Amino acid sequence: MYWRTALVILAFLTLAITEMRVTGQTLDVCATCHPNATCEEKVDGTGKACNCMYGFVGNGRTYCQDKNECQIGANKICGQHTACHNTYGSYYCTCLAGYSPSNNMAIFIPNDGTRCQDINECRVQGICGEGGKCTNMQGYFNCLCQVGYQVHNGAEPFHPHQDKALCKAIDCGQPPSALNAVQLSATGTRYGSVATFGCSEGFFWKSGENSSVCGAESVWKGPSLVCEEIMCGGPPILPHTGQVWNGSTNPGSTVLFYCKEGFHRERGGDISQCTKDGNWTKATLLCKAIDCGQPPSALNAVQLSATGTRYGSVATFGCSEGFFWKSGENSSVCGAESVWKGPSLVCEATCGPAPALVNTEVVLQNTSVVFHRCLEGFHSWRGRNTSVCDITGKWQAATMRCREIKPAISDLVVFNEKCLRWKADKYEEDTENYRIAFVGFRAYQRSFHDKRKKLLSSTSDHPEICLNLLPVTNYTISITALSARFTSTLTTNTSLQVPQAPEILYREIEAPFPTLWLRRSVNTLDPISFYQVFVLPLEGTLVFDCSSPKTPDFSSQRKPHGQYITAQLHLRDIGKEMNLTLGDGHYYGGFYNAPLQNGRDYYVILRAVSQWGGAFKHSCVIWAKVRDISYIMKVSSLFAGGSIGVFALGIFLGHCYTWFCKKTRQSS
Ligand SMILES: *[C@@H]1O[C@H](CO)[C@@H](O)[C@H](O)[C@H]1NC(C)=O
Ligand SMILES: *[C@@H]1O[C@H](CO)[C@@H](O)[C@H](O)[C@H]1NC(C)=O
Ligand SMILES: *[C@@H]1O[C@H](CO)[C@@H](O)[C@H](O)[C@H]1NC(C)=O
Ligand SMILES: *[C@@H]1O[C@H](CO)[C@@H](O)[C@H](O)[C@H]1NC(C)=O
Ligand SMILES: *[C@@H]1O[C@H](CO)[C@@H](O)[C@H](O)[C@H]1NC(C)=O
Ligand SMILES: *[C@@H]1O[C@H](CO)[C@@H](O)[C@H](O)[C@H]1NC(C)=O
Ligand SMILES: *[C@@H]1O[C@H](CO)[C@@H](O)[C@H](O)[C@H]1NC(C)=O
Ligand SMILES: *[C@@H]1O[C@H](CO)[C@@H](O)[C@H](O)[C@H]1NC(C)=O
Ligand SMILES: *[C@@H]1O[C@H](CO)[C@@H](O)[C@H](O)[C@H]1NC(C)=O
Ligand SMILES: *[C@@H]1O[C@H](CO)[C@@H](O)[C@H](O)[C@H]1NC(C)=O
Repeated sequence: MYWRTALVILAFLTLAITEMRVTGQTLDVCATCHPNATCEEKVDGTGKACNCMYGFVGNGRTYCQDKNECQIGANKICGQHTACHNTYGSYYCTCLAGYSPSNNMAIFIPNDGTRCQDINECRVQGICGEGGKCTNMQGYFNCLCQVGYQVHNGAEPFHPHQDKALCKAIDCGQPPSALNAVQLSATGTRYGSVATFGCSEGFFWKSGENSSVCGAESVWKGPSLVCEEIMCGGPPILPHTGQVWNGSTNPGSTVLFYCKEGFHRERGGDISQCTKDGNWTKATLLCKAIDCGQPPSALNAVQLSATGTRYGSVATFGCSEGFFWKSGENSSVCGAESVWKGPSLVCEATCGPAPALVNTEVVLQNTSVVFHRCLEGFHSWRGRNTSVCDITGKWQAATMRCREIKPAISDLVVFNEKCLRWKADKYEEDTENYRIAFVGFRAYQRSFHDKRKKLLSSTSDHPEICLNLLPVTNYTISITALSARFTSTLTTNTSLQVPQAPEILYREIEAPFPTLWLRRSVNTLDPISFYQVFVLPLEGTLVFDCSSPKTPDFSSQRKPHGQYITAQLHLRDIGKEMNLTLGDGHYYGGFYNAPLQNGRDYYVILRAVSQWGGAFKHSCVIWAKVRDISYIMKVSSLFAGGSIGVFALGIFLGHCYTWFCKKTRQSS
């Protein structure tokens, strides 16, 4: 229709332009026409007139207005389920929403046979969205939500393109919690999901449903279960017991039973516990009354009374006759351990008069302790000086012994000339230390001074000591007992000893002036010692007595050929070694060393002499034999190695060895 109209308009336009060109010189009516008007020859032929174009109404010059063809109604002009669209100078038809034209064109003009038919929108999959349910209607469709879904942002039914509404799956969220119950399982959180519950520990099912379901309203329905707490109630009561219980009656709570005062546990368990089924476990504690039995006995005491033998009973005691209370408690109590405690009393007996100890006196005393002291002139080294009265009423006597005070050293004597012995006064096995100091003097030797010291430790009651004292000496000896600080002194003298003969060289000489040799050792007795040289002419029976104190000199010979001293040599005047020439005519020690006679044989004897006071000690040795060549008789072979003996000639040298000797001695 548009294009037809356009063609008409185009034809009028071309005509007008042509008209204006033709009638250009005259008053052009056509030029005054409204654009939407056409210039046409009047029917009456009186010129031209402007007529409004088809679809327009007006005067053709000043106005040409559109004519609305749809005014009469779409149903009447375009048909059922249509819409009429007026255009400038024309109109057209379209199908209403929800309908589609039968010719499948978007627009149509009436009476061309086109109808508007209903569209089934539900044929489009998912048109209502997830969970939606489509319902087709004349010219439109509706959406509802499927089971398990719920409309959102609007109400049902809804139109997905017009409304904001949509279907959403029902989700109840997490299942609810139930009082004193725990969730056991859940199939999910969506519509229709089921959660099951059970009572918590310590609770039991009382009533109600134990499951919950996610309903259409997005809320869980249930559970309605009622869980009640399990309670054991009050704990059991046991005889003679007390309880340690915090008052809790819940399962797991415990009660501790104990025996009441005065009772002791005989046997059984002492704990009861509240169990899950609401009962207390059985406690088997058995308590029995404490009984201490008969009260104890106390030393030297008697029981006076007792209130019984059970716990807390008291028994009292008193000291027996003859005893007195010294210390401690005089009662006893039956204690929790089923034993009597006490009594601690100590009863003491009076001991009477203090014990008498020999040589002692009592210095201090009370009823139980006595001090003893030795009498004047007595002393004690050891032992307890107290006597104690013990609880049995007997004296434990002092152990001290008092002995007469004696000097620590007494009865000091010399024996065997050089040894000392004395009596020691000391305590038993004690060791006493002694200092022995001694000084020796000699009247015959001013310079002599033998001062020495010796120490001795001895436990003996009769100590002895031998000292290396020198002979012929006056000694002053002091012995000091060091711990006793006691000194005893004595003087003694030592005797003269047999002097030592010098070393000689025995010789047989044939010479008129034989020289003889000797060697000796220096001795402290030299001042009182000398050598005597005897000359013995060999004639007849020869007798020499070494022990004879006689000192015959050459001139006093009784017989013309008797023996004589030819020299006396003081040892203080000679050295260690000396030679003596016989017959040199000199005097030695007042004795004439007379020349030897020719034609004679001699024995020469040396006598060593020590002499002091009345004592006279000597020893002899044969020094030489002097021989005359003319002398025939041989006797020398009878002497052997310088040793001295007694032989046929009867030489007697101080000691008798044979019957002969005795004989000669008796005869002389
Ligand atoms: C003439 O009609 C056309 C449509 O056919 C319109 O667009 C135009 O405005 C009209 N002219 C006037 C001056 O009314
Ligand atoms: C739920 O309760 C029923 C009785 O109402 C019972 O038979 C079932 O065992 C219970 N289930 C659970 C899990 O407690
Ligand atoms: C009582 O003692 C039990 C254990 O025996 C304990 O579990 C409970 O909490 C206690 N209750 C109180 C009130 O102290
Ligand atoms: C708990 O006590 C009750 C009541 O005394 C009794 O009936 C039940 O048997 C007891 N349960 C057990 C497990 O002892
Ligand atoms: C028990 O001892 C107390 C002092 O501790 C004394 O006073 C009381 O007399 C004594 N009783 C007997 C019965 O000895
Ligand atoms: C007796 O004396 C001793 C020693 O001095 C002392 O320990 C004790 O207590 C005294 N006894 C009495 C009953 O005075
Ligand atoms: C008893 O002996 C002790 C030492 O053992 C001494 O100290 C005390 O003086 C002595 N008592 C008397 C009275 O002699
Ligand atoms: C010892 O002393 C006495 C008396 O004083 C005296 O006669 C004697 O000669 C002395 N003896 C010695 C060897 O000194
Ligand atoms: C010397 O000792 C002797 C006995 O050995 C004795 O007879 C003499 O009196 C003593 N002389 C002196 C001075 O002690
Ligand atoms: C003793 O005589 C010998 C030999 O003639 C000699 O060697 C010695 O020195 C003499 N001794 C003395 C003390 O004269």
